[in-house]
Amino acid sequence: MLLTETNIVHYLLDCGLFDKASFVNDEFSCDAGNSRHKNYIVNKEFETNRYFIKQALGSTAEKIHSLKREALFYEIAAANESFGPLQKYLPVSLHYDTANAILVLEYLAGYTSIYDQLLYQQDLSTATATELANALFLLHSTPAETVEKLTEKGFISINKPWILTLPELKSFSANAARSEAEAAGLQLIYDVPGFMDMIGEAAKLWVADCIVHGDSKLNNFLVKIDKEQTGTTSLKLIDWELFNTGDPLWDLATVFQSALTAWVISEDPVYKANKGVKTFDQGNMQLFISVCFTNYAAANKWNDAETRAKLEKCTVFCGLRLLHNFFETTPHAKSLRPYSARLLQLAYNILFNPAEAAQHVLGIKL
Ligand SMILES: Nc1ncnc2c1ncn2[C@@H]1O[C@H](COP(=O)(O)OP(=O)(O)O)[C@@H](O)[C@H]1O
Ligand SMILES: [Mg+2]
Repeated sequence: MLLTETNIVHYLLDCGLFDKASFVNDEFSCDAGNSRHKNYIVNKEFETNRYFIKQALGSTAEKIHSLKREALFYEIAAANESFGPLQKYLPVSLHYDTANAILVLEYLAGYTSIYDQLLYQQDLSTATATELANALFLLHSTPAETVEKLTEKGFISINKPWILTLPELKSFSANAARSEAEAAGLQLIYDVPGFMDMIGEAAKLWVADCIVHGDSKLNNFLVKIDKEQTGTTSLKLIDWELFNTGDPLWDLATVFQSALTAWVISEDPVYKANKGVKTFDQGNMQLFISVCFTNYAAANKWNDAETRAKLEKCTVFCGLRLLHNFFETTPHAKSLRPYSARLLQLAYNILFNPAEAAQHVLGIKL
């Protein structure tokens, strides 16, 4: 069945997730949206029966598979006490309907994504950075026995990010590119001396040794700041469709890449032409990144030498992750947009001199 704004209430009634009294009293609203999946927000302005619902549209098996993985993650996290400390960072998952690929989550009222906060409001707090570092640390330190058990059951496996395999494409074929812009980007990478070798060296650093979120963009982290209660921060990690075994620093690097991408977008003439856009606060971005990194390092109890080595690796991964982001921006583009070209340029600069980039681009001064 395909959910619609009108049949959804009947679906929820059937699942026992909507009470008849509210239905009779007309306490029902639904807002439909589109992201990777079709999604619905139910009763956002009411106190009860508030839900965020995702439905994978039947077209691709891959989308159905990934939504099922998200449901599986919430199920594992709720059932396994190793994930106990992480629970407070997760939305409550209420229902998964395999036949119709429908996931029902609690609606996180009053939350905004860290990405929106950074790009549009530029008031990211150090508390948010600290909470995020803690949440990622808790996820990444899931005990090895739990990881083994989940692997044995076939729930998780090593999932190497696609961009790490780029150097394995031995020779460039323009036909392999999905668009003219992508072909131009690939050609640039092949033409700049040493670029592909740096990518190859960086890719060798990737080691899969823990559970990772797998898609740790800032859009997938929501925060609510309770201004009345001395600014306490509540953070939620959502969108677990790509959780698997991977390198923890890839998750952290994705956080930093996502912040850098917001910065690059803010400089794009098309973005700047929008009415009322604020000038990007690079200082706020760098403070966020550096507090996040230092808290993650402290939680892991790394000594000075380890911290330096991990920072270098994380910075290099951030370069690779920007490169990945560059390809995400080009699949259908006719020509390289200035914004895409800047992502590519930034990726190159970071890979070329990670120590310098850690200090002056990410703003992490150890
Ligand atoms: N439980 C929730 N409550 C409120 N908003 C949510 C919730 N889950 C997701 N969202 C919003 O919907 C967007 C898309 O959801 P997400 O799970 O990230 O799916 P996608 O795979 O489409 O990115 C998020 O970026 C967030 O803004
Ligand atoms: Mg998402």
